[in-house]
Amino acid sequence: MIRIQNLTKAYNGQKVLDGINLDIAEGEIIVVIGPSGTGKSTLLRCINYLEQPDAGIISIGDTQVDAAHASRKSVLKLRRNTSFVFQNYALFANKTALQNIAEGLITVWKKPKPQALQEAAQILSDIGLADKADSYPASLSGGQQQRVGIGRAMASHSQVMLFDEPTSALDPEWVEEVLQLMKKLAHRKQTMVIVTHEMDFARDIADRVIFMEGGRIVEQGPPQKIFSQPDDDRTRAFLRKVLR
Ligand SMILES: Nc1ncnc2c1ncn2[C@@H]1O[C@H](COP(=O)(O)OP(=O)(O)O)[C@@H](O)[C@H]1O
Ligand SMILES: [Mg+2]
Repeated sequence: MIRIQNLTKAYNGQKVLDGINLDIAEGEIIVVIGPSGTGKSTLLRCINYLEQPDAGIISIGDTQVDAAHASRKSVLKLRRNTSFVFQNYALFANKTALQNIAEGLITVWKKPKPQALQEAAQILSDIGLADKADSYPASLSGGQQQRVGIGRAMASHSQVMLFDEPTSALDPEWVEEVLQLMKKLAHRKQTMVIVTHEMDFARDIADRVIFMEGGRIVEQGPPQKIFSQPDDDRTRAFLRKVLR
């Protein structure tokens, strides 16, 4: 169970997150939608302290971090309980697919190298890239690179995976294989928070859709409700634009 209480963040005096409250159940798939510049990325980044929130409490399992007095130790614990999939993959260019996945197991989880490599190999085969173990990112397609990015997140077995527009940087031909892998994780009840503009995918995969605007949660509910009968005019206006 994840609880986000009153999460607040400003840049240059401008509130980007304006008191976000959110409870996420174990195994729940949350999709966050909303116009750009509305704080979606900042929300994900604050959940695992890639950005330090100005205020608010994040609780994941037995880890609780209050922005008012966040110790380094509790932030590290929070990071270990979360994993992040970036829009631009953020792979190490000078490491192979296998090494990219093993890296966090060695540096963050302090696993012995042989064990880390063995676990990484298992994940590579799970994501259908066993034959690419020794390939460097530059020789992989965008879709394959992002699958490695997801594989890296899978390696840490974290309580929640955070996806920030995981398919936005991809050529259209590679989008589907990445979405398929995410669906596979959803079927395994991996808790996920996904920011995406892929509305069909959102409708398909989400247990709950959250519409954000202006740093706030405007409306949330099951996809059937949000996509067909949203309550708020702002949600309707946004969906009119993106669904046409
Ligand atoms: N590191 C930063 N420094 C200053 N402003 C930022 C920074 N990150 C984001 N912002 C601003 O915060 C607002 C929300 O950004 P973001 O969370 O990236 O929105 P979204 O992901 O919904 O497009 C935008 O106005 C953006 O310019
Ligand atoms: Mg963003």
